[in-house]
Amino acid sequence: DDANKEVLRDSVSADRPLLLRALSGETLATPPLWMMRQAGRYLPEYRALRAEAGSFLNLCYDPEKACEVTLQPIRRFGFDAAILFSDILVVPDALGQDVTFAEGEGPRLDPVTPETGLSRLATELDIEKLAPVYETVSLVRASLSPDVALIGFCGAPWTVASYMIAGKSTPDQAPARLFAYEHPELFDSLIDRLVDATATHLLSQIDAGAQVVQIFESFAGALPAALFRQLSLEPIRRIRDIVTHKRPGVPVVVFARGAGTGVEELARSGIADAVGLDWSIDPWRARETIQPLRPVQGNLDPLALLAGGDVLTRAVEDIRAALGDGPHVFNLGHGILPPTPIAHVEQLVRLVRG
Ligand code: CP3
Repeated sequence: DDANKEVLRDSVSADRPLLLRALSGETLATPPLWMMRQAGRYLPEYRALRAEAGSFLNLCYDPEKACEVTLQPIRRFGFDAAILFSDILVVPDALGQDVTFAEGEGPRLDPVTPETGLSRLATELDIEKLAPVYETVSLVRASLSPDVALIGFCGAPWTVASYMIAGKSTPDQAPARLFAYEHPELFDSLIDRLVDATATHLLSQIDAGAQVVQIFESFAGALPAALFRQLSLEPIRRIRDIVTHKRPGVPVVVFARGAGTGVEELARSGIADAVGLDWSIDPWRARETIQPLRPVQGNLDPLALLAGGDVLTRAVEDIRAALGDGPHVFNLGHGILPPTPIAHVEQLVRLVRG
């Protein structure tokens, strides 16, 4: 449905943050710029606060520190948007599935099994547990200048479910995919639980001050086409319907990594107000197939940013040439990598802003 698109277009005006203008369908001479994972380990000031906080989740649940970390890349680079510092796995954590981040090993969860089913999970999101996250959103919004937009986010149900079932990162999400084939009803009830919890989480972020929400479907690439529709697009549509019905006018960006031509289906479906492009998508094709339908966001290869120099210059120029004639938010095609030199991010800012 295009109702949200209409609301967004009606609110186009020159004094709004550039990100909101681009997401409303405006073509801007200079695209708004932010980076996925812009708050993170490539910044020495992040590493210092992270060490002080102890664990990663302590940092996520400490409003003052999480606010500070959210603002670090804005101060340093003047990006057009801040993204809440948090994680997609706070949702399972607030459904009672203990989440920990083992140093250097990534997330660990007590896996959902066919035997235990959903019995160990709460039926509803524990909003009290996530109160520090929403407090972080309010603190950040109060500290940002009005021309910098604040992005809230969540993981899409399939991506989050894949962690809940495997209990950790897996190369191709085989445990969750097999679970979906072998226990479809149980898998559906897990997705249902996540749709409700995730919608609640996004609404709470919006009420605390998030002006845009991004849904990360990081593992879209693991799903065959039919399952992509059923387990990725449909649950995202349900979340989006709840969010735009209750809080019309807040753009929903969907980043479905590895979806391939599935991103064209995403654009046609109307589920997303803007479509995130991973670095594997040809921006010249997206110009023809996606941008006429929806604003696009992306899609510099994080490794081109890591390489810097001429490689970076050429890659940025190509994306600008391909997507600069329509609504575009400049971003990476996935998160910035920890060894990326700060000087390369500065080079990126100069290249995009001219
Ligand atoms: O983008 C931002 O700056 C906002 C914060 C943010 C984080 N994670 C912080 C983080 C966001 C938007 C995420 C999303 C997220 N988390 C995704 C979707 C995006 C993607 O990357 O595909 C996923 C799959 C996760 C799950 C997750 N969180 C993993 C697998 C890991 C471990 C791997 C790693 O990079 O260390 C995390 C930890 C994490 N989340 C870190 C950060 C900055 C690193 C933790 C640390 O500082 O030790």
